[in-house]
Formats: sequence, C-alpha cells, structure tokens
Amino acid sequence: MTTTTRFDNTRHMIAATAPEEPVYCLSPTVLQNQVNHFVQGFDGTVGYAVKANPTPEVIRALRTAGVNTFDVASIAEVELVRSIAPNATLLYDNPIKSRREIQRAYSEYNVRSFALDDAIELEKIASIIGEDPMLELTVRFKIADATAVYDLSTKFGADEAEAIALLRQVDSLNYKAALTFHPGSQCTDPASYSNYINKAAEIVEKSGVNIQMLNVGGGFPTPYLEAKIPELKAYFDAINTSWQKGFKHQDCILVCEPGRALVDASVSIVTQVKHRRATPVVYLNDGVYGGFMEQAFSTIELPLRTYRGDKEFTGPIQRFVAFGPTCDSIDKFGYELPLPDSIAEGDWIEFGLQGGYGSSTATQFNGFVSKDYVLVDEGFPQA
Ligand SMILES: Cc1ncc(COP(=O)(O)O)c(C=O)c1O
Repeated sequence: MTTTTRFDNTRHMIAATAPEEPVYCLSPTVLQNQVNHFVQGFDGTVGYAVKANPTPEVIRALRTAGVNTFDVASIAEVELVRSIAPNATLLYDNPIKSRREIQRAYSEYNVRSFALDDAIELEKIASIIGEDPMLELTVRFKIADATAVYDLSTKFGADEAEAIALLRQVDSLNYKAALTFHPGSQCTDPASYSNYINKAAEIVEKSGVNIQMLNVGGGFPTPYLEAKIPELKAYFDAINTSWQKGFKHQDCILVCEPGRALVDASVSIVTQVKHRRATPVVYLNDGVYGGFMEQAFSTIELPLRTYRGDKEFTGPIQRFVAFGPTCDSIDKFGYELPLPDSIAEGDWIEFGLQGGYGSSTATQFNGFVSKDYVLVDEGFPQA
C-alpha cells in the first residue's frame, strides 16, 4: 500500500488488505472541513505546525485546502514543505537553532522569519544574516498561565521585561519585529489566549516598537474522550475579541499555527489484535513506541471502533489492559481500553483523532514500524 491508495472507508480498506501492520487512514475531506472551520472562525491567517504530522500527503492536502503558512522547527521540515509548497511562508518558530540551521534556512531555503527568546539567539541570527530589513524576528514570550495538558513555557519564552528588551533590540538592528507565544498544547481554557494577547498588547506599548505580526501559536484542543473542553468557537471568540481590543488599530497581522486541532480529526489508525489473554489483556501490533506515544504520557483517551473480517462489530463492553508489540513493559496504554468482551486475535481496532503526534512521534524500536498511510473518503465519525 502507498500513501495514495484510496478507499471509500476503513471497512473497505480492511476488507481489501487485511492489514497485519498498523495503517493510518487519512481523509482529505475531513481535513479540508477542519481548515474551513479555522478559516471561518479565526480572524487572521491560519498556518500549520508541521511537527504535528509531516506526512507529505497531509501537507499536500493542507495546501489544497488553502493553507500556505507553515511553522517549521528543523531543516528537514523546511525541506519537506519547500518540496511541496515552494512559495509557502515559512515561520521558523523553534526558538533554539544552531548557526548552521539558521544559515541553511536563510540562504538555501529563503526562510525570512525566525523566532527567538533570548539575546544570545538574536546575536546568532544577526551575526549570520547581517543586514536585511525584510527579515522578521519574532520574540516568543511567556506568562504564568498553565491551562494546557502540555505546558511548553518551562522550555521556551522570555518574560515580560526580557521580551520588551528583545523587541527594542530587534528594532534597533533594523529587522521587522513580531511577537509570539504558545499557551501549551491541548489548552483547556480559551481565556489563556486572551490573557496572552492582552499581555502582548502591553509589551508592545511598553516597548514602543511597532510589531508587524502577532502569532498566537497552536494549542487549540481536540475533543478526546476524557476532555471537557469548550468548542473551538469559544477560542476563536476569545482571540478575536482581545485582538480587536489590543491590536486592530495597528499595522499588524494576526496568525495562528495549530498542529493537533487542524489534523487530528482527519486521521485514524487501524491496529490488529495479536494476542488476547484469558484475563482482560490484549496485545496490539502498535503501542507507545509507535503511533500511541501520547497514550503513555498523558490522559488522552481516543475514540475507537472494532472490526472482525470485513464487518464492524461491537458487544457488551469490558475494560482491557492494552500492550503494544515491543518487549518493554512501559509499552502499555495509560488507560484500559473499552472493547467488546469477545475481542479476539485477528480483530482490528481503529482509533480516531490520531492525526497529530501519532505517526510523527513513532519510533522503530524492536523493529516495529508504524508509518503506512492510505487515503479514505469517509473519515472516522465525529462525536
Ligand atoms: C512553536 C509551536 N507552534 C505550534 C505548535 C503546535 O501546537 P499544537 O499541536 O498544540 O497546536 C507547537 C507545538 O509544540 C509549537 O512548538
């Protein structure tokens, strides 16, 4: 199977191929719908964080859906996007880059926007690139506001005073100044964005520097089963209101660069049961070293459906301990899977909402590979 093999739906894919290795099913239609949802609700440019899912077919489908701004974090991601979308706007928003990465991104790939969160990174960029009034340098800042499943502020972000100083330095070096933040991935409270945008307006005012872009990052949540989160509309409303209040009168554009919330719903992963013990335990052909890294580190619980032969089936539900295929005992789902009590060797389990940080974080530990994609017209049913 190749990434371009296309089926009507998952059931037909299973009937046609009876896959013994994990298979990701991508629905370009669902992806297009999610892009439309963001474009209609968000008051600025909708970009995409490539790290969430760099599968070429996903990037192609996003391009077709109209996305032309990409957050990249490595030269490999830059090369990938340039090979599919040569004229796309690339925002190199990893605040820490080696000198060689800066050099290659700028000279070989025409990247003209870089993030930073300290004066050392600014010095690196300035000493490598030199004068260029078209270069955009984006200061990433943070505030104390932890309402996300993954708090990214312990790793990156200047505090208010540092951000003000950095904006002034960027401006005095005659680069274009911009601001960004990331409220943390799977952010559970729309007010986090308002708090960040209000602080951004304050930083701009205190610095006296005109910024040309405010990038509100990613962090938009996916409705996983355990997640009690507001609709995306509440996030768009919070952002749009604080943006209008703090920035609308300025010559500045608004950008977001979601990862998981843009791609999650469009991809499911089909796994096969390799073994079932008499106790309620199943061993799957994929696990936390493959497409399920987040099921080890977080409470993220995925919707699922089950197949036997070419038919979807269900039955009285029982909770099963679920292990992946490697010999490591941490290769185990962090919660018990609700499966039909008759689940047996050879049955398939399809997990929805697996577009972000599934295949992109899979390893090949113990020789188990989790990377095959097919296209399906009908995606995993939305809740
Ligand atoms: C700079 C940046 N932008 C965007 C994202 C995407 O975040 P999410 O997948 O939570 O939307 C990340 C994720 O780590 C990031 O570091």
